[in-house]
Amino acid sequence: METKHRRIRLNAGLRNLASSESLNSKKLIQPIFIVEGLKEKEKMDSLPGVFRDTESSVLKQVESDLKVGVTHFILFLIPELKSNSEIPKSFYERSIFSLKKKFPETFLWIDTCMCSLTTHGHCGLLHSDGSIDNHTSVKHLSDIALVYAQSGADGIAPSDMMDGRVKSHRAILDVNGFSNIPILSYSTKFKSNFYGPFRAAADSAPAQGDRSSYQIDVRNREDAVLSSIRDKEEGADFLMVKPGMTSIDLIGPIREKTGLPTGVYQVSGEYASIHYLSQNGFCDFDSALSETWQIFSRAGASYLITYAARKGKEVLS
Ligand code: PBG
Repeated sequence: METKHRRIRLNAGLRNLASSESLNSKKLIQPIFIVEGLKEKEKMDSLPGVFRDTESSVLKQVESDLKVGVTHFILFLIPELKSNSEIPKSFYERSIFSLKKKFPETFLWIDTCMCSLTTHGHCGLLHSDGSIDNHTSVKHLSDIALVYAQSGADGIAPSDMMDGRVKSHRAILDVNGFSNIPILSYSTKFKSNFYGPFRAAADSAPAQGDRSSYQIDVRNREDAVLSSIRDKEEGADFLMVKPGMTSIDLIGPIREKTGLPTGVYQVSGEYASIHYLSQNGFCDFDSALSETWQIFSRAGASYLITYAARKGKEVLS
């Protein structure tokens, strides 16, 4: 436990995310999708400027992102075969290891969830009656987090919303010599209609039912705040609200109550809606995007995950 406060001071990238400054280009995190078995890089109509990368095209993508000043990435690793028991270890290892080897200057957060892996598209494993098996899910997710760490991940970003995942990830990382790896928790993550384009990109829509038994109800403010406080108590280093615009009122209170850097995920549906407005001539894309970032900054966001991180310098200047 003695490294707890030092974990967010360990390198310049982390200090940039954790600082109390307004949003700036060093506080942006770019999502990257790597799809196992994909033959050619695919663009996405709903998310202009965002791609489903192959294991080799991602190297070029990251190279060009580094050139425009992006250093923080969050990886979504999409395996070819679905499984509720096997971890696609070699795909995870290859993806992370080859990026870190070629670009050691990157900071790679890895989204830790199971919705791109399970046969049913839920973020955890299910009992035979279809309900979530929280205990087994957390164990499996922690085993996945350990594979990420062993493959060279810089940070773990649990997005599944199972109870106790942060505590369990912290424990398995510490026991295996990864006490310096920070956890950026999707701590206040609502069940939302704004994740649609992401689920198409990550092949992660639930086949049946929805995520309301584990993601937070938008009407429940107390649950939203407590969920972040709980993750701090379990050992999270960074907290997050998600989606961005629909959680704007919670950033300040969560930061005040926890004292932890609290960021925003501007989700796929938020990004796509700006795109669709601008495509139909109803707004200027960069200007509308910049407006949303100013609002996140005004609300006190410590960092921002956005599909447009690679346009950060242009938009912020
Ligand atoms: C995985 C995950 C999701 C997002 C990030 N991680 C999808 C979901 O929870 O359904 C959404 C991101 C976005 O919409 O941009 N659980």
